[in-house]
Amino acid sequence: MNNKPIHSVGVLCSGGDSPGMNCAIRAIVRTALGLGLNAYGIQRGYQGLIENQIRSMDASSVGNIIQRGGTILQTSRSKEFMTAEGRAKAAANLKQHNIDSLIVIGGNGSFKGAMKFFEEHGIPVAGVPGTIDNDISGTDYTIGFDTAVQVAIEAVDRIRDTASSHDRTFLVEVMGRNSPEIAIHVAICTGAENIVFSKQEIQYDKISEHIKRGMARGKNSSIIIVTEGDRPGLAYQVQDTLKKDFKLDAHVCILGHIQRGGAPSHMDRFIASRMGYLAVKSLVDGNYPLVTVYRDGHVATAPFVECIQDKHSIDKSELELVRLLSI
Ligand code: F6P
Repeated sequence: MNNKPIHSVGVLCSGGDSPGMNCAIRAIVRTALGLGLNAYGIQRGYQGLIENQIRSMDASSVGNIIQRGGTILQTSRSKEFMTAEGRAKAAANLKQHNIDSLIVIGGNGSFKGAMKFFEEHGIPVAGVPGTIDNDISGTDYTIGFDTAVQVAIEAVDRIRDTASSHDRTFLVEVMGRNSPEIAIHVAICTGAENIVFSKQEIQYDKISEHIKRGMARGKNSSIIIVTEGDRPGLAYQVQDTLKKDFKLDAHVCILGHIQRGGAPSHMDRFIASRMGYLAVKSLVDGNYPLVTVYRDGHVATAPFVECIQDKHSIDKSELELVRLLSI
């Protein structure tokens, strides 16, 4: 527990945007103002902090944003903040505005940066997990995941209409980089026949056998969910191999950034609001550095070290579920 009094808080978004970031910004600014602190918005993430893009926020600066996707503060992936010089510039800019604490909404890469920043400059920091990938260790949930999954589910349902009207197999590529979370949830909720993960050996023979068996018993469509990996396009490789080696025709649909936009769901609005509030309260209470997390159905806080790893593990029972339910 720290006892340095906090008078002001700066907030920034870092990494890919996600639906619900605006809800967190709103909660942070309004909680800060409600507790008598000054609130500042930092534009374009750590890069904007280095370039001194900082503005004072009042209650109306976060009015009418709770339902908007993206982030009103914009975001970036800053290479410069990975350097000690970049972080020193950022600290000097906070000092110039009399900002004595910082909240970072982003993923685990952004949290690693925040932790370094705290270690080097002693500025109280808090992390709020915001990424559609749900791939941060130490938390069961990251803001944006629910909305992104729902968007992908709606897209796959539409693709299923066409697939079944034409007896087709579709490879639908979803986001999540190397994280299996979006793919598994989408597969279970759309009744997909198979999943392909970017970092795992692809069992083409099993995929092809499963699809051909389904068709032989009268199925008129099949959906294979593919995780995109480091860059989009894995679905095209899978398509080629299925065609060349297994004489199986499949169409490709890459959902891409459509999954990152749009109005946040109830879950994203609610958890983002709770996390934004708790981040400010914790800083004021001297409980920092910290990350707000969602565990066992509750919003709580955890040390940074628990939340800076990738969470890529696959729950085998969920894979079995996909297989058993799509026979
Ligand atoms: O981390 C969020 C995410 O949307 C990943 O799912 C995806 O792989 C990546 O960002 C795409 O990044 P960019 O928007 O920079 O292309």
